[in-house]
Amino acid sequence: MKRIKIIDVLKSTDYGKEVCVKGWVRTHRSSKAVDFIALNDGSTIKNVQIVVDPEKIVVTSSSSLTSTTSSTSTTSSTSTTSSTSTTSETSTSSLKDVTTGSCICAVGTLVESQGAGQACEIQAKSIEIYGLCDNEYPMQKKGQSFEVMRKNAHMRLRTNTFGAVMRIRHNMAMAIHTYFHEHGFYYFHTPLITASDCEGAGNMFQVTTKNLYDLKKDEQGKIIYDDDFFGEQTSLTVSGQLEGELGATALGAIYTFGPTFRAENSNTPRHLAEFWMVEPEVAFLDQEGLMDLEEDFIKYCVRWALDNCADDLAFLNQMIDKTLIQRLEGVLKETFVRLPYTEGINILQQAIKDGKKFEFPCNWGDDLASEHERYLVEEHFKKPVIMTDYPTAIKAFYMKQNPEAPSASASSVGYRGSVAPGPTMQGTDVLFPQIGEIIGGSVREESYDKLMAEINRRQMETDKLWWYLDTRRWGSCPHAGFGLGFERLILFVTGMQNIRDVIPFPRTPKSAEF
Ligand code: 4AD
Ligand code: MG
Repeated sequence: MKRIKIIDVLKSTDYGKEVCVKGWVRTHRSSKAVDFIALNDGSTIKNVQIVVDPEKIVVTSSSSLTSTTSSTSTTSSTSTTSSTSTTSETSTSSLKDVTTGSCICAVGTLVESQGAGQACEIQAKSIEIYGLCDNEYPMQKKGQSFEVMRKNAHMRLRTNTFGAVMRIRHNMAMAIHTYFHEHGFYYFHTPLITASDCEGAGNMFQVTTKNLYDLKKDEQGKIIYDDDFFGEQTSLTVSGQLEGELGATALGAIYTFGPTFRAENSNTPRHLAEFWMVEPEVAFLDQEGLMDLEEDFIKYCVRWALDNCADDLAFLNQMIDKTLIQRLEGVLKETFVRLPYTEGINILQQAIKDGKKFEFPCNWGDDLASEHERYLVEEHFKKPVIMTDYPTAIKAFYMKQNPEAPSASASSVGYRGSVAPGPTMQGTDVLFPQIGEIIGGSVREESYDKLMAEINRRQMETDKLWWYLDTRRWGSCPHAGFGLGFERLILFVTGMQNIRDVIPFPRTPKSAEF
């Protein structure tokens, strides 16, 4: 009999019809006369209730299970002989073995539900057991801590919370592709293996086929890469931006959406060593246009979640964060604040004067810590902030440089004429409640001479970047783009607290299991 997904069964009003559902048991309650099994197949957060008359039910097994053994992991799950109908007596005891986590197929009649909480339920005629689940199953207990679940990342996907998070994650990926497709951006694939460090932070994982136990070095002790697979030192990419710019300055507007890798030793709830980034890059876009794009895009994704993930959001709102849906709706209503870095520092300095305590300093020129970003967003403005015009020293080489200020006492003029005490660049980072930086973006320096001067000032190796510099040599154009940390978006949309809990298998310092 053809299986129906539980999401479709729950929508059906074909009462009296015979249906077949398959899934994992969430709970099994027994009384003398009737058993209730809550079954979930991952298609929705909701379970279907299977009502079982223990006297009448036919329980079979698809593998060599017996009613007395509860351990199944080593029994032949590949066995094809199935459907040995059992007697009423053995079926009762087999039914008892169907505990939380077991996988079953249930066939029965769809009926209108007598109980509250669901429209329909299934009056079971037969149950086939695919896999039992003994009490060592790590997800058996309710209310397991996220820490314990992380150690069991292979099994946590079967919990309600992780089911909800993963379905929302999928939906956000669909929202991203739909947004860009509808807005005329081309999905552009940039390499994962690269010889250049886009962000210049040196946090790269090397890629090599060299024998690490026998490395050839030159007279200065530097490793020789001539005989390595690519003939030069290569790493996993930290960003697809540089190649993305090549795409944008030919196709007009592109976006990348793929994994990126950073070997930064940041053991925080917002950093992963392997994370997914979305990077649109657009020709002929200025700073205002870039901020409009950032705001429109992120609102589109949040709206998509509210429109398409209602059941999962309702669950997370109830179980994880009671203000989640309110916060998502709030973001849609708000116009994001556009705030030059220099003005942001002034607000933070004033807060310190008024008695606010921060762990890290925040003088002009400092990179803002998450606590500063969150103060501005959550306490001062109480809405998302797009911060602009950062000091050159804390940003990457490729950002557009702001003009020198005419006055002798000031040196750089940024967004809406704000005057900074030092040189600034046209960065546009989006800061979000609960998250801090969710987007890092900028207008790109299109002048060959200015870009070269910056590269030289930073003593960067130009031989790895010749192809990038050619975009400024031939047909250079104003352009801009940004990178959205996909997991940070998922954190925001799900209300989860730790980035390790919004990706199926997190990669963090000292942790690459599964
Ligand atoms: O601000 P970042 O470093 O910007 C870039 O890489 C640019 N090349 C993007 C561009 O303009 N095309 O990173 C972009 C975003 C951050 O705002 C943050 O959301 C996320 O990527 N991110 C991380 N997410 C998880 N773990 C990490 N270690 C992250 N580092 C950055
Ligand atoms: Mg950044």
